[in-house]
Formats: sequence, C-alpha cells, structure tokens
Amino acid sequence: MTDDGEYYGSPESVAAMKRSAALWSLVRDDPRFAFYGRLVGLSQPVENTAEVIGALARLQGGSPCYFFPKSEVPALFSELDRNGLSTDRHEHFFGDETAYTAAKGVLSDYCLPSDLSVQRLDDATPGRFVADAVALMESCGVMPVPAAYLRGRQGRGLCLVATDGDDKPVAVATSIFMHPAGGPHAKTVFWGMLATRPDRRGQKIALILGAQAIVHMWEQEGARGFMTGVRQDNVSSAALCNRLGVADTEWTYAVCVDPQTLGRKSVTK
Ligand SMILES: CC(C)(COP(=O)(O)OP(=O)(O)OC[C@H]1O[C@@H](n2cnc3c(N)ncnc32)[C@H](O)[C@@H]1OP(=O)(O)O)[C@@H](O)C(=O)NCCC(=O)NCCS
Repeated sequence: MTDDGEYYGSPESVAAMKRSAALWSLVRDDPRFAFYGRLVGLSQPVENTAEVIGALARLQGGSPCYFFPKSEVPALFSELDRNGLSTDRHEHFFGDETAYTAAKGVLSDYCLPSDLSVQRLDDATPGRFVADAVALMESCGVMPVPAAYLRGRQGRGLCLVATDGDDKPVAVATSIFMHPAGGPHAKTVFWGMLATRPDRRGQKIALILGAQAIVHMWEQEGARGFMTGVRQDNVSSAALCNRLGVADTEWTYAVCVDPQTLGRKSVTK
C-alpha cells in the first residue's frame, strides 16, 4: 500500500484518484456530475451517456453512471465495447426512510461487542490510524477514498471505525454526500465501504456501524436517501444492505473502465 499524503491505496488507485481530484476541480459546478472522492461520474443518465462516461474513463481510468436503468445496460455496454472500452457494473441498492427506520431498529436491538469502541475519523485522527483503517478496507477488497473525504474535511460525510482493545480497526463504514446540490438526488448520499476484519465477522459489527452511519446522516446532515453499489454475487453485502432497508432497484451503477489508464479492469469490489 502506498501512503502518499492524503491518498492511500495501490499506486494505480492513488494515481486514478489524483486525476479525479484534478478533474473535479474543473467540473464541480456542472450539475451532470457526482463525486465522493473516488471517480467523477454521471449523477444520472444523460442523452449521450456512453460518450460522457467514455471520456471520463479515458481521463480518470474509470467512470460510473448512477441511476442507470438495468434494462438499458446491454445497449450501453455494447456501445462502450465498440469504442474500445471495458465495462463493469454494480447493482444500485437504495433506501430512503426504510433505511432510517431499519437502522433505528438495529440500534435499539443490538450492541457492539463490549471490547469495541467507535471512532469517527476527523482532522485530529493520527495519519497512522487512518492508514490502518484504509489497510483494513483494502484487505477486504474495498477501494478507499482519499483521507480528506474519510476525515469529513471534503465532501461532507463521515467514516466510522470500530476498534478493539489494542486500538486496531476491526470494521469500517462510510457515508458521503455526492450528488449536485439542487438536483433530484441532492439528499441522496453514498453509504458503504463496509468492511469487517475476517476474524470478527458475524458479530453484527458492520450492521451496527452501518446503522450508526445512516442515523447520523439522516439526523445530523439531512440525508434522505442512501445508495450503494453491490456486486450481483456479493451475498453477504446484499443481505447486510437488506437488513438495513437498502435494497436492489431497477437501476445499476453502469461503469466504464479504460484498463490502459486505470491499470486494471474493475474499480472496486
Ligand atoms: C459484508 C461484511 C462487511 C459483513 O460484515 P459483518 O460484520 O460480518 O456483518 P454482520 O455480522 O454485521 O452481519 C449483518 C448481516 O449481514 C448479513 N451477512 C453478513 N455476513 C453474511 C454472510 N457471510 N452470508 C450471508 N449473510 C451475511 C446477514 O444478514 C447479517 O445479519 P444476521 O446476522 O442478522 O443474519 C463483511 O463480510 C466484509 O467485510 N466483506 C468484504 C467486503 C465487502 O464485500 N464489503 C461490502 C462492499 S459493498
């Protein structure tokens, strides 16, 4: 893992996120685009979706289009393929008040194991601890976003980390605003990057951390929608999302990848 200032991850991921940050500095006022520190993407489909995410992928390495209808994926992917680009998809899970209600229920029914405590990353968090949390995400196949987003300094959001008695991260959950203010999805936030250390799985740790993130974003930040991308074969993640009122929809995250620029064929788990 590279520890490059505020960027963590594999060298390919760090390079991609630096390109994305540079691009975001130029296009952040364009209401077509969404961003939470990873890759600039389309907030929702536009008339020339293939052209736009193709261009974004060539610049960054990859680019998603959120809220993309599942039924239209074959045509979109054929067009991107004809243009010499690769494709990938995550199912677009979403929850609104269902998520808030389910999260409140989880927090009233369950407690974290007694040896764990929860920290929210912020500017005062030592870089070493952020690096440990990021290492946990990466070991679980989850691509972290830059530390400035995890610390809540950029992008308005939070990253919660459950730690054990040795002050080592055991699990992580993140939620960040991402869509253009004033647009139809302004109050819908990214929620996810859930990761639990393998030796602590099955103890409802991700369930509780994920619920805490939802309740915080709803009550303190005014979030009213929670979205996350789940691979079709990720049974544990889908089940966890469903337990928290975040369920599959008619949409996908339709992702365009330029492997030559990104250095690999998929962005994240
Ligand atoms: C997904 C992950 C975060 C779950 O962590 P966890 O702390 O073990 O999960 P919890 O104990 O809180 O489980 C909560 C719920 O998730 C579901 N779940 C968790 N693990 C599961 C499994 N292996 N199979 C089926 N369902 C599972 C269950 O519904 C469970 O609720 P239940 O115990 O009441 O049935 C963990 O497996 C992980 O880190 N996976 C790799 C990274 C990843 O895929 N992240 C998601 C990216 S979107």
